[in-house]
Amino acid sequence: MTSLKWWQTAVFYQIYPRSFADGNDDGIGDFKGITKKLDYLVRLGVDALWLSPHFPSPNWDCGYDISDYCNVAPEYGTLDDFKHFLSEARKRNLRVILDLVLNHTSDEHPWFLESKSSRDNPKADWYVWVDTPPNNWQSCFDGEAWTYVPERKQYYYHYFMKQQPDLNWHNPEVKQAMWDAVRFWLDLGVDGYRLDAIGTIFEDPNLTPHSVPMNLAELRRFSELAKTDEEKKLKDQYWADMFKNQWGQPGIHELMKELRTILDEYEGDRMLVGEDDNIDYIGNGKDELHLVFNFPLMRTEQITPEHIRKNQQERLTQLDKLPVRGWPCNTLGNHDCSRIYTRFGDKLHDAELARLNAALVLTLKGTPFLYNGEEIGMTDYMLTDILQVKDTMGSWYYHTIVTEMGVHPEEALFRTAEMTRDKNRTPMHWSNKPNAGFSPEGVVTWLPINPNYREGINVFEQEQNPSSILNYYKHLLKVRKASPALVEGEYVALQEKEQDYAAFLRRAEKQTVLVILNYTEKRLDLDFSDAKDVKGKNLHTVFTSAVRSPADHTAQKLTVAPFEVFIAEVTP
Ligand code: NOJ
Repeated sequence: MTSLKWWQTAVFYQIYPRSFADGNDDGIGDFKGITKKLDYLVRLGVDALWLSPHFPSPNWDCGYDISDYCNVAPEYGTLDDFKHFLSEARKRNLRVILDLVLNHTSDEHPWFLESKSSRDNPKADWYVWVDTPPNNWQSCFDGEAWTYVPERKQYYYHYFMKQQPDLNWHNPEVKQAMWDAVRFWLDLGVDGYRLDAIGTIFEDPNLTPHSVPMNLAELRRFSELAKTDEEKKLKDQYWADMFKNQWGQPGIHELMKELRTILDEYEGDRMLVGEDDNIDYIGNGKDELHLVFNFPLMRTEQITPEHIRKNQQERLTQLDKLPVRGWPCNTLGNHDCSRIYTRFGDKLHDAELARLNAALVLTLKGTPFLYNGEEIGMTDYMLTDILQVKDTMGSWYYHTIVTEMGVHPEEALFRTAEMTRDKNRTPMHWSNKPNAGFSPEGVVTWLPINPNYREGINVFEQEQNPSSILNYYKHLLKVRKASPALVEGEYVALQEKEQDYAAFLRRAEKQTVLVILNYTEKRLDLDFSDAKDVKGKNLHTVFTSAVRSPADHTAQKLTVAPFEVFIAEVTP
């Protein structure tokens, strides 16, 4: 196990600082809060933390619009609070990576304020300026991608909101300034970065227009109303076509190489994980990013055995082809998408499916990323009032479809509640006390608390309950840590035609385990006596989500309970 790097063996846990823990009772999460919960994270059994942006920000995009890269947002505390948090994390052997937003800054960042002030200031060329909008490009969040600035009588480009102007990465001074910020946190001792939206850093130099016969709001609306297969296919095509000239353009690999060189100057195996599924960002395996997310695993309406196998087959084959074999990185949820519990539930067996999917991420080959709250089975929360919406891409959409398309406000609210990322960013449930123990009673939290914290979806109650999902996660994390096969073993799919269950081996030098995930409510009688590496061997149970006798099983006759997760060591 020792030949692997820490970021290959670690389980990462994403903290969304605004919603994790409120240490000063103002309704907003902060570093005091996070620091107090470090022992909880140790008990849970994770090894590394990814913090979504904690930098000063006007919060048009919940921290992803940064106005100072070398500081802490006042609502989260001070730089000293951060340092204290980091040293407390260290004491507990928890690694910490930060979010690095390279593509854009806030429009309130001093760089942009200076850049927009005139056409000839020292930072005039730090952003992407044009005299007139050269094409029909859209921002993926709020309409036109070109916004006018009267001071310069020019337009600037923004892939995201207009409050998030794109930096001009062709300018060496921009690089220098950003690399300084990168070093600032590495010098403080952070273990690396999750790289935000790297695909958007460069644009098509020919500024080729998109060919979709609609604008962003119309496309969103079209997508919502698409019913037939043909319409659904068309909508996917339109989404791809609309942004293809604003994504994945030449220049990124060189930039990632530069960034990697900086990280490699530091001791301690600092790492980079890209918010992208493109394996090309791993470069030759040594010169760009350490990891990219296996997003295709979660980009599906339903997790099925077939989907899992196809995903693994494609992904692992691609990674294996790299000059230095790439390492996988699996996740099913984050702050940008519907929560696992809701998204991959079927409304009848949500609890069972949530457990299966947790087991999936924790038993596939690769580094798992969990999203805060998923370990207690937090669900999406549908906002009921447009004034509650904090995700401005949601409020922009609401107002656009109501005012420009005449959509009834009630329907618009429903659509907005469904599409906004607020639904999966509500504060963490720490107990069954008012405000879910996130903030004291009476405090107005930054987003409403999901009332289902009273129904057992909270840390305090689940810690006492041996059969809670929280204890299930803890148990599974322990089993994973103790098993060389689960940490480093090769993935070998078994019985690849089966629709009801996914079965695979994780095969390491010292150990082989068999993992079975039964995605149905059927009791299954399975026979692995013909399976390579299992033939003639015994199965020694190391984990099961069902009630079964601890006795060993034979590969020949293995009964698996409905929705069971069964993990067994293959023994002679
Ligand atoms: C990806 C982040 O995950 C998302 O939350 C953010 O809105 C965009 N990038 C823009 O930074």
